[in-house]
Amino acid sequence: MALDIATFDLNRIGADFIDNPHPTLHALRAQAPLHRNADGSAYLTRYADVVKVYASRDMLSDKTEEFGRKFGQCPLQRHHTTSLIFNDPPYHTVVRKLIAGAFTPRRLAEFEPLIAGIVDRLLDRVADLGDLDLIDDFAKVLPTEIISLMLGIPPEYRARLRGYSIAILGALDPVVSPARMAAGNAAVEEFSAILNDLINHRRANPDGAGPGEVLDGLIHGEHDGRRLTQEELIQNCIFLLNAGHETTTSLVGNSIGLLLDHPDQLRLLQGEPGLIAGAVEECLRVESPLQIGNRLAGEDIVLTDGVLPRGTYIHTSIGAANRDPDQFPDPDRFDIRRSPNRHIAFITGIHVCLGASLARVEGRIAIGRLIQRFPHLAQTGARVRLPLARFRGYTAFPVRVA
Ligand code: HEM
Repeated sequence: MALDIATFDLNRIGADFIDNPHPTLHALRAQAPLHRNADGSAYLTRYADVVKVYASRDMLSDKTEEFGRKFGQCPLQRHHTTSLIFNDPPYHTVVRKLIAGAFTPRRLAEFEPLIAGIVDRLLDRVADLGDLDLIDDFAKVLPTEIISLMLGIPPEYRARLRGYSIAILGALDPVVSPARMAAGNAAVEEFSAILNDLINHRRANPDGAGPGEVLDGLIHGEHDGRRLTQEELIQNCIFLLNAGHETTTSLVGNSIGLLLDHPDQLRLLQGEPGLIAGAVEECLRVESPLQIGNRLAGEDIVLTDGVLPRGTYIHTSIGAANRDPDQFPDPDRFDIRRSPNRHIAFITGIHVCLGASLARVEGRIAIGRLIQRFPHLAQTGARVRLPLARFRGYTAFPVRVA
């Protein structure tokens, strides 16, 4: 039976949608691909429309006004309006150019052995534990360690990073409780203080950087004669930490979930480890860690089912686009050999994810080595989902490796 989507409102979604949004997303795509929420914002679910929005220079990321309304004057507002993701050129171009220096192929090649070393060390611990939580004991540790190396975060702070990340990113959900808002503000304040000290320390000790650290380049890098201010540095480092570990944690957790739910695909991958790159792409498509993006229409935009006028606030459903049958035959089928697989889990356009190559390498090494080393990996209890619509992942995932 077709779902009634006339009354659907992205700002009023419930636990059912978070648990499995796809029946609703399929119905929206088929019946109302330019769906309007009660507040007038549009929710786009077709691949062609979402790609067109991301490719257009007229679709803006600057959220100063929206965040002013949503947050008022507070640390969350300061953070989100300063990070590159929520800005347009020319500020976006400056910050992006400086950060891009941290993600060159040469840097990535330096990271590969570090990633493999961290994964193998984690897997030794996993073997000792036997029974464990896949998220706490494995998936979240790798990205935290990698980004901490990049930004020179000492080990004693690392345990707190995922809590900060969830608190800060959770405030971007369409519906945010006062408690979640307070937690987000506290996280920005604490995290800013830590980074302020670390940046000052690196300014005073430029030769003290460890392997893989890129903080120095961010501090002293210049684009068009412009350096980042201390506040811009702090807020963009917070963003980098958040962008890099929540999403990568979800990539690993979601992928293992999909493989355990599809034992034929798991066996196929265990028998042919060379399929890992395609498997990671398929996991990114089917369970995209970032499900929803936003843009403000700076001009009218013509889409497949009509025109959105200038001034429309747009929600792009990455999750729906990645299961659009016009782009992906049999879109709900999980097929690690799917080809072509032009998913947009990292979007496209000028804001395309800067960490995509790093995330792919982390995913391939972590997922590939885990399932090869522990062929009898099994779930031992209920998985618990992140209670968020924008970010798709698990907070708990009990498993046994013996
Ligand atoms: C599976 C893991 C990841 C996913 C699914 C993902 C997804 C995305 C998406 C969808 C965007 C675009 C958001 C928008 O403009 O609306 C983005 C931007 C970004 N991501 Fe990622 N990301 C991942 C991992 C990483 C990692 C590991 C890093 C860095 C350590 C990173 C750094 C960034 C940065 C800096 C941007 C902002 C780019 C800009 O605004 O120009 N991401 N990511």
